Amino acid sequence: MPITATVATPSLRIVPLDAPLGARIDGVDRSQPWDAATAAAIQQAFLTRHVLVFPGATMDPAGVLAFARRFGDTVAEVNREKRLGELPEVSRINSTIKAIEPGKDLQFHVQTSLRSEEWHTDQSFVERPAKATILHAHEVPSRGGATWFCNTAAAYDALSDDMKRRLTGLKAVHGYDTARARYRPAVRTQEEIDESPDVVHPLVRTHPESGRKALYLNFNRLDHILDIPRAESDAILDELAAWVAQDRFIYRHNWTVGDAVVWDNRCTLHRVCYDSPVGDRRVMLRVVTQGDRPF
Ligand SMILES: [Fe+2]
Repeated sequence: MPITATVATPSLRIVPLDAPLGARIDGVDRSQPWDAATAAAIQQAFLTRHVLVFPGATMDPAGVLAFARRFGDTVAEVNREKRLGELPEVSRINSTIKAIEPGKDLQFHVQTSLRSEEWHTDQSFVERPAKATILHAHEVPSRGGATWFCNTAAAYDALSDDMKRRLTGLKAVHGYDTARARYRPAVRTQEEIDESPDVVHPLVRTHPESGRKALYLNFNRLDHILDIPRAESDAILDELAAWVAQDRFIYRHNWTVGDAVVWDNRCTLHRVCYDSPVGDRRVMLRVVTQGDRPF
């Protein structure tokens, strides 16, 4: 796509980023309802660019929630511990890298956070995973701590015809945890465990709004592909992990305080880069919206 700004209304500017996905949205008031032309232009950008960056001032939790509702029905955070007070749909994510205490390993300090270094799409361990995720930067480190995004529709399109044929019809089991993941997730209560039994999703999903096919992957959750030997399943998942990590599919977002970034989990993967200085605070508010069952 050529990198040209679209002027959709007198104030709104949609600027595609110089990357295989992503657009910057300027001139929009995040705190006010949008008129129909603004909403339609932003929706179109969401479907074609998959990741939208809205710069602006810091919003409080209620403000982020109201903003997030423009992108669908917001849902309560599965993990109770991450919920923020009176607003169960807003979670506060502190991924500050702490100093290592003597006798404790790195995993002890940031084990759940480290899971977000792996390429993933949000909530693939539930039957109807997140549509959009809204992440809003309250505190950002002096350097590092970028969020990387992968365009999985482009990654699918670029596969060989042979690989596309091989993946056709394959389904995979996603669980809250899998031995394939490098790091273990947060410990959950029985109630939380009961809420999320393993689920099966297609490896290639069709976007319900655009009709485009995209790889549907999550290397923290994907356990195995159904109906093929484990070794073959592992080989395919490893091959896809290497495939999606190619620069040609990736945009790296370096955060500025106040940024709200909205992404489409149905056709992207993301990961956090844990390379900021120890002690530099990195605090985000997060809201997700309800998606459909992948098909
Ligand atoms: Fe995530």
